[in-house]
Parts: sequence; C-alpha cells; structure tokens
Amino acid sequence: MPDASPGLSIPSQNEASLRPDEGLYRLLIESLSDYAIILLDPEGVILTWSVGAERIEGYKSEEIIGRHFAAFHRREDIRQNKPKKLLEDAASAGRVIDEGWRLRKDGTKFWANVVITALRDQTGRLCGFGKVVRDATRRKRAEEGLRNINEKLDERVQERTGQLAQTNRDLRGSLEQLHQLAARLQAVREDERTSIAREIHDDLGQSLTAMKMDLVWMMQRLAGGEKGLQTRAQSMLKVIDDAIVSVRRIATTLRPGMLDDIGLAAAIEWQAQDFQERSGIKCILDIRVENLVLDDEHATAVFRTFQETLTNVARHSGATRVTVKLKDSPQELVLEVRDNGRGFDAGAEGSKKSFGLLGMKERAMLLGGTCEIKGDPGRGTTVTLRVPSQSGPKSASKLV
Ligand SMILES: Nc1ncnc2c1ncn2[C@@H]1O[C@H](COP(=O)(O)OP(=O)(O)OP(=O)(O)O)[C@@H](O)[C@H]1O
Ligand SMILES: [Mg+2]
Repeated sequence: MPDASPGLSIPSQNEASLRPDEGLYRLLIESLSDYAIILLDPEGVILTWSVGAERIEGYKSEEIIGRHFAAFHRREDIRQNKPKKLLEDAASAGRVIDEGWRLRKDGTKFWANVVITALRDQTGRLCGFGKVVRDATRRKRAEEGLRNINEKLDERVQERTGQLAQTNRDLRGSLEQLHQLAARLQAVREDERTSIAREIHDDLGQSLTAMKMDLVWMMQRLAGGEKGLQTRAQSMLKVIDDAIVSVRRIATTLRPGMLDDIGLAAAIEWQAQDFQERSGIKCILDIRVENLVLDDEHATAVFRTFQETLTNVARHSGATRVTVKLKDSPQELVLEVRDNGRGFDAGAEGSKKSFGLLGMKERAMLLGGTCEIKGDPGRGTTVTLRVPSQSGPKSASKLV
C-alpha cells in the first residue's frame, strides 16, 4: 500500500556532524528488539541487520547480509514479483506499508507488518531503503480465530434458521390437517344429525300418529261407556299429543327442516321464538336480508353459530334481553347477537376446556369468514359472525 509521504533524505556531511555518534544510534536500533530494522540497497540487497531482525526472522547477520530481501518471501509472492513491486512502490511514493505472510529462516511463516521507506540523498538519487518489520502473528491469529468463531456462529444461525423454518412448515401442515379434520367432523356431525332428525320425525312421528288415530277410533267406540275408561283414554291422547310435539321439536332442533325448505332467515326466526318461549329471555329480531344466497354448508354454519350463541346466553349471561340482527350486502352476511347480561372477558377464555366459542370461530374460518366475540363485563356480550358472499352456490338456501 503506497504512502504519499516522500522518502527520507540522507543528511549532508555538515548535518551529520551535528548528530549523535553512530555507536549511540546503533544502540537505539539494537534496543528495539520487537522490530526488525534493516537497510536495503536500491536493488533490495540486505546491507544491515538488527537484533530485532534476528529475533523475528531467525537469521544471524552473517547469514543474511548480502542476500536479497526476497529471501523472506514465500514462493507465490516471488512468482507474482511482490518484492520488486514493493520496492517500486516505495521508490515512487516514498513509503509503502504492507502486511502478509513471510518466512523465517526455519521455513515457518509469520504475519509481518512491513514499512519500507525510500532513502534519497540531497540530489534525490535513490540510495536504498529502510525496512521496519513487526511480527503481528498473534494479532493475525486472534483475528482469524474471531473470524472462525463468527463463521461458525453464522453456520449455526443458518442451521437453526433452517430448522425453525422446517418446524414452522411442519406446524403449518399440522394446523392445516387440524382444520381439515375439524371441517370433516362438522360435516359428519351435521349428516348424523340430519339422519337422526329424519328417523325421529318419520318413524317415531308416524308411529305416534298411528297410535293417536287408533286411540281416537277406540274413544269413539267407548263413547257412553265406562267413565273411568274414557278419562284414561283422554289422558292417553294428551300424552300422545305432547309426544308428537316433542318429537317435532327434537327433530327440528337436531336439523331444522325449514333451513332446507324456507331458508336461514325463517330458521333463525323460529329458533329465536323457541328460545324466548323456553328461556323467558326477550328476543328482539331485526332481519334485513335481500339478495344474498348461501349454500347448505354456509347456512347450517350460520344457524349452528346462532344456536350456540343462544345456548351461551341462556347458560352464562343472566340476560333479560337479546337483540338479533341479520343483514346482508353483496359482499357478506352479518349475524349479530347482543345480550344485556353480565358479559365476560373474551380474551381470558382461551385456557378453559370449553369448545362453544372455539367451534364458532373454527366454523367461521372454514367458510372464509370471521366470528368476533366481545364481552363487556357488567354490560353484556356481542357475537358478530361475518360470512362472505358466494358467487355461484350449488344448492342455495333461501334467506327470506
Ligand atoms: N353470552 C355470554 N355471557 C356471559 N359469558 C359468556 C357468554 N358466552 C360465553 N361466555 C363465557 O365464555 C365461556 C366459554 O364459552 P363456550 O361456549 O366456549 O363454553 P361453554 O358454554 O362453557 O361450554 P361448551 O363447550 O359446552 O359450549 C363460558 O364458560 C362463559 O364463561
Ligand atoms: Mg357454550
């Protein structure tokens, strides 16, 4: 690395006589045992040797004086003409600083910090070079050690990053499978409910109707007969009528036929009415749906969410009033159920072993929508379900 400072000029005879004697100067050079201080002629041949030079490079003065300083350079440096280039740079710039591997007498290498200064007389003629070398092997090794550690650290970080990315991919895969499983379970559950509802409604319902018809027939024959028998028959008729109502209700709760027949809005109205009658909690409906069509899967999911929300209101809220809003836009269907009960901290519910809210969110997610549950402690709870509109439903459920 050439330096812009000019080379040193050799003092004239008069100036030299003002300087301390050569012995003292020699003493100074010899005391700097951490530095090799060497004089080279203009060609690079070694003219002087110092104690420091012997300590660092291993040669005694009689072994090295008269030889070219390329003796310290490795073969590849010589092949690239490095010693010559260093002298040329020093001659042209005045000084050159270099760092690199050099060879000791025993062939071992050391990391040298080298400064070569051009020496010129008063006329500017190049008389030679002053070369100062310092052994910086320990610093170099420390730097290399640090670099190795850094490289290893980088490798470890990359390895770990790779492992984390893989774990992330695995987790996403598992999550995806879980969603698929949840979707499958919902579908299976819905199918089962539908088939049980049908069986209860058709088999049990028809048997009860047949029993009722027979009983009515018998009661006509009993007319004017024993009073006790008539009273018993009358009460049997009442039991059968109640059973028919129960069967219808159970079947409808399992799978409201009206969901398939007259649509989601009607099913929600019926559910709200039923809820009000059974729980005594007033249910106010605000249904404004016009154009949106939903397939069976979507309509069922909205209806089940509504059912679970009402069950929660009855079970946990202590509310006296529930407001239900159902509205649509070209983009989505929104169902909002707001109660005036005790409310709760929805964010703190995650750890409990309850699945209602979780199921609602899962259903919404499977449909590409959202289900937001906002509890306001002391003031009530609001559940808002948003389901995106479908462009081309296969089997659309009527909304109104
Ligand atoms: N409308 C509400 N008012 C007050 N608290 C509610 C309401 N809805 C839910 N919660 C609270 O949130 C909890 C979780 O509800 P979630 O429906 O997930 O479970 P659950 O009803 O307790 O059990 P299940 O799994 O049978 O539904 C409830 O236990 C209750 O503390
Ligand atoms: Mg629940």
